[in-house]
Amino acid sequence: KTIAAFRRDLLAWYDQEGRSTLPWRQDTDPYRVLVSELMLQQTRVDTVITYFNRFMAALPTVDDLAAAPEDQVLKLWEGLGYYSRAKNLQRAAKYVVNDLDGVWPQTYEGLQDLPGVGPYTAAAIASIAFNQVVPAVDGNFFRVFSRLLKINDDIAQPKTRKVFYEAIAPIVDPDRPGDFNQAIMDLGTTYMKAKNPDTLNSPVKAYNAAFRDGVEDQYPVKTKK
Ligand code: ADE
Repeated sequence: KTIAAFRRDLLAWYDQEGRSTLPWRQDTDPYRVLVSELMLQQTRVDTVITYFNRFMAALPTVDDLAAAPEDQVLKLWEGLGYYSRAKNLQRAAKYVVNDLDGVWPQTYEGLQDLPGVGPYTAAAIASIAFNQVVPAVDGNFFRVFSRLLKINDDIAQPKTRKVFYEAIAPIVDPDRPGDFNQAIMDLGTTYMKAKNPDTLNSPVKAYNAAFRDGVEDQYPVKTKK
């Protein structure tokens, strides 16, 4: 009952105030989702918008990317840094086109076979492009759900991702998993951002156990490295 209400409140807010105009949110083509998620791995949303639009104009389909000269791909990536992402992106396109005959893996597990695609990116693509009910656990999810659920595991520990994944998996909206994940991203960069969160006005304040108990500033738990 509470989970249903949480989903409803979260998605109602997302439909009203989410970043619905982001260019990679205009459709659920797995290729567009892959390109955007790889760009967003290490680069801010504001910066990615221009690069994403340019990349899509030059190489609109996975076949275009698979067939492109590598220096064209690197040129389109110029300024984003972390060029291994660009090389992995093209290797992933070649893998889908040449080895899988253009048929994308559609599951959280299967998508992790793509070069450059780890658990987070696999979950993002699986949920947004293929409606798989999996949480895309990134820093936003650590921040939002550590507070909502008072999860005390140390987010600096690699094994903690699995703790969050398993805690959140039953909460993901089975009807709109991609929107659920992107709503958490939007929440994590607005009302529940790292510095000066605006919890009082958050659309999911009522579900925030750490806020209720006055200990929001103690989450997420993170040891200094
Ligand atoms: N960061 C990573 N993936 C994102 C997405 N789909 N929308 C906004 N920010 C993101």
